[in-house]
Amino acid sequence: MEKLPLVALISGRGSNLKAIIDAADPLLEIRAVISNRPQAKGLLYAQQAGIANDVLDHTLFKSRIDFESALQTRIDYYQPKLLILAGFMRILSPKFVAHYQSRFINIHPSLLPAFRGLQTHKRVLESGMKEHGASVHFVTEDLDAGSVIIQARIPVLPNDNEESLAARVLQEEHRIYPQAIHWFAQGRLQLQGQRALLDGNPIILDKGNLQ
Ligand code: GRF
Repeated sequence: MEKLPLVALISGRGSNLKAIIDAADPLLEIRAVISNRPQAKGLLYAQQAGIANDVLDHTLFKSRIDFESALQTRIDYYQPKLLILAGFMRILSPKFVAHYQSRFINIHPSLLPAFRGLQTHKRVLESGMKEHGASVHFVTEDLDAGSVIIQARIPVLPNDNEESLAARVLQEEHRIYPQAIHWFAQGRLQLQGQRALLDGNPIILDKGNLQ
């Protein structure tokens, strides 16, 4: 089987990137890692693994449009068939997102559609929810609103704080992100309109796919 060329966008710690590198998926070729922050720790994981890595510092661009246009040129140089966000902390415009439609995925630390946006662990604790988790989803124009591919659920424990909760969610992220990418590399995952399909069937999260 042909390897899936992938480009990853990061901004910081890069633990999801590391999990994907460590998974050593034989169907995957990580062509490049691009960070908008020069000091992102995730760049070191790319370097250690011998993966091309670039910095495109958004603060050096006059506008979001200029930054995104340069980012798109840089990404497309590597000709990815899958673009992933792995802790990339910039909002992306609809035009940019449309360019990668159906081949663009993200991981988010909540059980989407609940808790889109930032500070999910804090908000889950404040809300008194008994369950939390992480979701891998297709990227669409609206932030954290695309079709979910896979979720992991964890219980919120009585003595949990933000840190303990974040750590357990992150552990699950490191499991489900490589899994979703593997499905994509196998050609089993598609986006049809607004729906994510696995093996041609709509992904139903409260039944077969919740892990
Ligand atoms: C993760 O919690 C991910 O869900 C969110 O940003 C964080 C990135 O962490 N989108 P890392 O950089 O992969 O360690």
